[in-house]
Amino acid sequence: YMASLKYKDAAFTVESPDVTYTGDEILAKYTYETVVIEGTKAIPTKTLFTFKTKRHVPKTGLMLVGWGGNNGTTTTAGILANRMKLSWRTKEGERHANYFGSLTQASTVRLGNDKFGNSVYVPFHRLLPMLHPNDLVIGGWDISKQDLGDAMRRAQVLDAGLQDQLYPHMKALQPLPSIYFPDFIAANQADRADNVLTGSKQEQLDAVRAHIRDFKASHSLEKVIVLWTANTERFAAVEEGNNDTAENLLAAIEREEEELSPSTLFAVASILEGCSYINGSPQNTFVPGVIDLAQQRGVYVGGDDFKSGQTKMKSVLVDFLVSAGIKPTSIVSYNHLGNNDGKNLSAPQTFRSKEISKSNVVDDMVASNRLLYAEDEHPDHVVVIKYVPCVGDSKRAMDEYTSEIFMGGTNTIVMHNTCEDSLLATPLIYDLVVLTEMAERITVRREGEGDGTFESFASVLSLLSYLIKAPLVPPGTPVVNALFAQRQCIVNIFRACLGLPPDNNMLLEHKLV
Ligand code: NAI
Repeated sequence: YMASLKYKDAAFTVESPDVTYTGDEILAKYTYETVVIEGTKAIPTKTLFTFKTKRHVPKTGLMLVGWGGNNGTTTTAGILANRMKLSWRTKEGERHANYFGSLTQASTVRLGNDKFGNSVYVPFHRLLPMLHPNDLVIGGWDISKQDLGDAMRRAQVLDAGLQDQLYPHMKALQPLPSIYFPDFIAANQADRADNVLTGSKQEQLDAVRAHIRDFKASHSLEKVIVLWTANTERFAAVEEGNNDTAENLLAAIEREEEELSPSTLFAVASILEGCSYINGSPQNTFVPGVIDLAQQRGVYVGGDDFKSGQTKMKSVLVDFLVSAGIKPTSIVSYNHLGNNDGKNLSAPQTFRSKEISKSNVVDDMVASNRLLYAEDEHPDHVVVIKYVPCVGDSKRAMDEYTSEIFMGGTNTIVMHNTCEDSLLATPLIYDLVVLTEMAERITVRREGEGDGTFESFASVLSLLSYLIKAPLVPPGTPVVNALFAQRQCIVNIFRACLGLPPDNNMLLEHKLV
């Protein structure tokens, strides 16, 4: 008999004395095993946790800032097309709506073995009772008043055959007016801004809060998540007394301080409404005052910048090279893109935000291997981005990786990546929302310590790192950029919610006679 691989798309329950299913919750006792290093000793350590997961999947709304943009319209179109199970003809043949590119909707995890030793894989979304993107209610804001039908046409992302079927549905959707401070995005965006809030900063903040409340009430939603997929802003200066603490930030808004970005105001509005807030762009929305406010209110924030194309490849390739004992000495990345994101990034201040976000993505991998790199040594790392209207949303990313190999040799890898930007980014938006919503239903208790109450994760939701170019982590904790470590983090935490150990890939059952 040859053991092989099986796939099961069916719900499962865990049978273990450590796991209890009640009507509302899954309770799982879990032994977290780590290794503590003290001097020359490595000490295996076990900590007992109980994970509690709420089973009811709430009716959830997603509000996008930048709803009328390429990502915003594609996110909306993707849900409608999947919900209606649409098909359309292209010159290559018939295509069907799907969720390819989504970790939660289109990938699988190895759950275990059956009794014959076959590996059994299940869809990722079967791990826990997760929200399905089809069930999301979508709304949001844009500084451009184009309805979603025309905005989808303007975006030029989806095939015409699909656009035509969706147009009447999208036409009915109208973005809310938004906060627009021209200084924070490129001047070339000004002609788009015909749907903007007016009044003081405080009044605009209150208007956004009212939008969230109205959206929630009018669709009878149990919760709302807010996600920024609007244009990349320039960095805001972090200033003492202005945006360094929650109190100072709220006071700065009231007294009309200049150095406050629209995205920071959106984050504040969202947090004050108790809604998780995710930043899909590279700017520093999460100034210390926002993090402080999120912590005070116990609300999740996640960011920054979707990890969709070039950086995703980088966080795989450099991890592979360094963990193979090969020493990357230079990484040079050229991008050109022709969508409105590219137009906005053609201004130096907004480009700078993207450059910063793309620049630190190999730091953890380099730091993990001092056999290859001296203490303060880094590969040369350069990122170029150019606006070339002709390529539209089909961003090109070209990378050259030069590495030092055995005996002073040189290995050069050159890659050309046609990214179809919004088709790569949109599934990440679904995942960010599904995972954030899931995290809102998980609480943890450390056994034998504290007062026995269950706690949420830290407000800065680093669980989302897999989907993020410059992962925001709780202050003082390490950033992980390596893609597979990030994926395992999510899978293993969700397994822990079921009292299941991490998949250790040892396959001992197949290695012993
Ligand atoms: P886009 O330019 O097509 O869409 C952005 C939308 O935001 C536009 O409709 C614009 O009118 C609107 N907008 C600008 N300022 C606003 C404000 N203050 N409030 C409300 N709406 C506002 O750009 P796209 O391609 O959809 O990308 C969106 C963001 O996602 C960009 O910052 C981009 O850098 C980021 N991103 C995109 C990735 C991808 O598409 N693969 C990957 C990583 C990040």
